[in-house]
Amino acid sequence: MSAAEAVTDALRDLHGRFAGVREGRRADYIPELTRSDPDDFGLALVSMDGHSYSAGAADTPFSLQSVSKPFVYALALASLGLEEVSRWVGAEPSGEAFNAISLEAGTGRPANAMVNAGAIVTTALVPDSREAPAFHRILTCLSRFAGRKLDVDEDVYASESATGDRNRALAYLIRSARALPVDPVAAVDTYFRQCAVRATAVDLAVMAATLAHGGVNPVTGERVVPPEVAAQVLAVMATCGMYDASGDWLLRVGLPAKSGVSGGLIAAGPARFGLAAYSPLLDAAGTSVRGYAALGALSERLGLHLMKNPALPGSTVTLVTTADVLPSAPSGRRERALRGRVGVVAAQGALDFTAAERVLYALDESGPERAGSVVLDLREVTGADSVALELLHAGLSRLAREGRRAAVVDPGDRLGPPDLVRERTGQDLPRFGSREEAAEHCAQALAAPG
Ligand code: DON
Repeated sequence: MSAAEAVTDALRDLHGRFAGVREGRRADYIPELTRSDPDDFGLALVSMDGHSYSAGAADTPFSLQSVSKPFVYALALASLGLEEVSRWVGAEPSGEAFNAISLEAGTGRPANAMVNAGAIVTTALVPDSREAPAFHRILTCLSRFAGRKLDVDEDVYASESATGDRNRALAYLIRSARALPVDPVAAVDTYFRQCAVRATAVDLAVMAATLAHGGVNPVTGERVVPPEVAAQVLAVMATCGMYDASGDWLLRVGLPAKSGVSGGLIAAGPARFGLAAYSPLLDAAGTSVRGYAALGALSERLGLHLMKNPALPGSTVTLVTTADVLPSAPSGRRERALRGRVGVVAAQGALDFTAAERVLYALDESGPERAGSVVLDLREVTGADSVALELLHAGLSRLAREGRRAAVVDPGDRLGPPDLVRERTGQDLPRFGSREEAAEHCAQALAAPG
C-alpha cells in the first residue's frame, strides 16, 4: 500500500459506481465490434509527471475508432500548419451525428476533423510518399502519443472495410466538390486502418495526457507535436469531439474529449491529467455510456471543469511592508526613518500573468510615498513564464520612470539574465543575495540621492 494508491482508490470507487450500468448497446455496423465483451469497463488517469493510475479492464486492447481522429488531426497540423489544414477542413461544431454529411454548402469542406467526413479529409492530408507512406506516419505518430508501438487489429479493419460504404460515399461526395486532395478509396482505406489501431485505456490516457501536456508525452518525455498544435487539437475536441453532444458535454463535464464507437473515450484536463475510459455499450451519440458517466463524475470529483476556476493560486505575494519593520532593521532614528521609505515585497511560486499582476500591484502598495525605493524579493519564486517576465520588466521600468528605485533579491535570476533586464527595464537593477543587503542599499541610496 502506498500513498498514491489513494488515486487508484478514487478510480476504483468510480469503477464500482458505474460497473452495474447496463444501458446502451455495442456498435454493430462494424460487425467485428460486436465481439467485444459488454461487461468490459476500464478507467485510466495519467498525470503530467507521467504517473499512471487505473481500475478495471484498463489493459484490454480495443480499436481506437474515432479516438484516433484528434491525433491524426495533430499530425496533419504539425505537418502542414493550421492555415493549410483549415483550407480543407473547418473547425465548427456540426451539431450532427458522426457519420452525417456535414459539408459546407458550396465548398464541400467538412465542418470539422472530428466527424467522419472531416476525419477522412484530415487523413488524406497526411503526407504520403514511397519512403514514408501516410499510414506508416499515422501509426508512428499514434505510437509516439501512446509511448509504445501500437498495431492494427486486422479483423476490425477487414470488418469495417467490408461494410464501410457510407464512409466511401462521403469521400466520393467530398471528392465531387473538389474538396478531397487524394483518391477517395485510398483515403478511406487509410482512415479505416487508422480506426483499427489497437490500444488500451491506459494507452489512451497517456495519449490524452500528451495533448494536455502541451504535446510532450509525460511518460517518455518525447515531444510528439508542437505546443500550439496540442492547443489547437484540444480546442477542436472541446467544441466538436462529442459530435451533437459536444455542447452538453462541455456544459456538464467541461473538458476537451473524444469518443469512439468501440467504447473508448478520452478527456484531457489541460496541464493536469489525461483521462480515458473503455466500455463498449454506447448511447445514441456513439459514446460509451459508462465512460461518459465515469469521466463526468471524475471531472466533478477532481474539479477539472475548465470553466470553473479552481486554479486560482493561493498566495503569490507573501509580504508587503516597509524595511523599518524587518527584524534586522537598525535601531537608530534616522536609519529607521530612511528604512521606512523603502518598501519590501516578497513573492513566491511560479509566476504567470495572474501572479505577475499581483506582484506589480503589491509594488505600488508597498510605497508609503512615491519617492521611496522598493526591494523585490524573488528568492521563493520558482519560475516565471515569458508573459510574467515581460510584465514585471515593464512594471519595473515604469517605477524607474516615476523616480522610484528598485533593488531585487534574485540569486536564481528569475527576472532573467542582467543584460535582458537592462534592455527591458532601461536600468541596471541592483541585485542582492539577501533582503537585508538590498534594504540597506536602498536606504543608503535614499540618504545620498543621485
Ligand atoms: O468511421 C466510422 O464509422 C468508424 N470507424 C469510427 C466512428 C466512430 O468511432 C464514431 N465515434 N463515436
